[in-house]
Amino acid sequence: MKIGTPKEIFEGERRVAMTPESAAALQKLGHDCVVETGAGAEAGFSDADYKAAGVEVVKTAAALWKAADIVAKVRAPDATEMKRLREDQTLISFFSPVADEAKMQSAAKKGATVVAMEMIPRISRAQKMDALSSMANIAGYRAVIEAGNNFGRFFTGQITAAGKVPPAKVLVVGAGVAGLAAIGTSTSLGAITYAFDVRPEVAEQVESMGAEFVYLDFEEEQQDGSSSGGYASVSSPEFREAQLAKFRELAPEMDIVITTALIPNREAPELWTEDMVKSMKPGSVIVDLAAEKGGNCKLTVADEKIVTENGVTIIGYTDFPSRMATQSSSLYATNIRHLMTDLTPEKDGVINHDMEDDVIRGATIAHAKEVTFPPPPPKVAAIAAAPKKEAAKELTPEEKRAEEVAAFKAQTKNQVTLLAIGGALVLLAGLYTPASFMQHFIVFVLSVFIGFQVIWGVAHSLHTPLMAVTNAISSIVILGALIQIGSSSGVITFLAIFGIFMAAINIFGGFLVTRRMLAMFQKS
Ligand code: NAI
Repeated sequence: MKIGTPKEIFEGERRVAMTPESAAALQKLGHDCVVETGAGAEAGFSDADYKAAGVEVVKTAAALWKAADIVAKVRAPDATEMKRLREDQTLISFFSPVADEAKMQSAAKKGATVVAMEMIPRISRAQKMDALSSMANIAGYRAVIEAGNNFGRFFTGQITAAGKVPPAKVLVVGAGVAGLAAIGTSTSLGAITYAFDVRPEVAEQVESMGAEFVYLDFEEEQQDGSSSGGYASVSSPEFREAQLAKFRELAPEMDIVITTALIPNREAPELWTEDMVKSMKPGSVIVDLAAEKGGNCKLTVADEKIVTENGVTIIGYTDFPSRMATQSSSLYATNIRHLMTDLTPEKDGVINHDMEDDVIRGATIAHAKEVTFPPPPPKVAAIAAAPKKEAAKELTPEEKRAEEVAAFKAQTKNQVTLLAIGGALVLLAGLYTPASFMQHFIVFVLSVFIGFQVIWGVAHSLHTPLMAVTNAISSIVILGALIQIGSSSGVITFLAIFGIFMAAINIFGGFLVTRRMLAMFQKS
């Protein structure tokens, strides 16, 4: 099939849906690629780059839409593009199915297939195709950079000969994808970073990134996001009041506030009120990422930067990803490439639009002359959805004791049965094998048992340090194997070589994984 990418016509849009790198990967799936001339120019990809990657370059948008079986683009199609969309053509693009219902109906009527990138479900398997997340990640990063650009001081504290500089204080409201990216950028620049979210389960993530989670003094049933596909749901008026009271308390202290709070398919909640802006210090900066959906800050003006009377800068740009067009085009094109990989399971250039597939079904809004929006809920639970805990039943002390005794009895019974079976097997082996074998065998069985018990009791997060210990054990295995390798028996020599090989995998694998883990914590 031929995949084509036109130049974006939405004013100010600099991104492109196909890069020379993604085109090379698409060709490996058996597809041909075509772009409109100048499609990648604003994102830093010239026609020559595309040609070098084996992509055909056509002169006009009309020629592109005519040539392509699949059109991949960034912004939802405008009226001209909708006219160009034809029967049996597939369009992959952002396409808000609720706001653009008429366009969706028209595409379905024509018999075209439309895959809306923002509809990719947030499930683990689809993360590599999740364009909303990859764009929000960029927006979060850029929000901090933009804030820094408008802030008259350092992020990090410094003690210099010329005087002491306090670190900037940054508050991030909403710790979703964009919020976490903002937190990461802000802490790495050295600011004291605070974060708030209605989902308390993100507190650990926030703290692991070096920021401080702002807790409310409020008792409300925790939101677990399981009913809403990993997203937050609307909080109660009392909760909102408690939240606003906390923000009011924080506002005079904060230098930079980045708001990213959003509940899908709703207007952005108003969380940073006029009086909070008034109580901020002159020179403070607010970046409102939710500007497109009405803004989290009362005074935000979408697509504009304003300065209030008391000297607070409020940035309401809605095109942060486009302001980093090279990076966002690379990530978006990679999202599309992964989607194409799922749509081309045989890698033979033939599309299999499998409507039984959770991800493809979820993102398809028009197919086979029908509107297929809204999709059924995905069969797999959302990533952020924590399993619901059974409400703990209040037990009397006697009931508790009886429960503990029953659990202990059941555990003891299991252990005794296992020991009896193990003992019988060892006895059986002892009847038919030499004494020297039994001596080693018992040591081996005991070490497997102890090793299993030790590893089972270690938390997952500590498995990497544990690998360092297994490295030490692997060294002992290698030593033993080296002693045996010169044996006159071919079998022993083979086993020794095999032992060295396996232990070496563990040692070198351990080093590699540890190195990658450490790299994640390196500051530069
Ligand atoms: P997300 O859904 O991953 O995160 C939103 C977070 O807000 C969630 O963690 C949610 O729990 C939290 N939240 C909801 N209500 C809240 C409340 N009342 N108080 C505190 N937290 C609350 O969304 P994502 O992908 O991080 O996007 C965030 C925002 O950034 C969205 O508004 C999105 O439209 C916007 N965005 C803006 C761009 C721009 O150029 N301005 C570009 C990309 C995204």
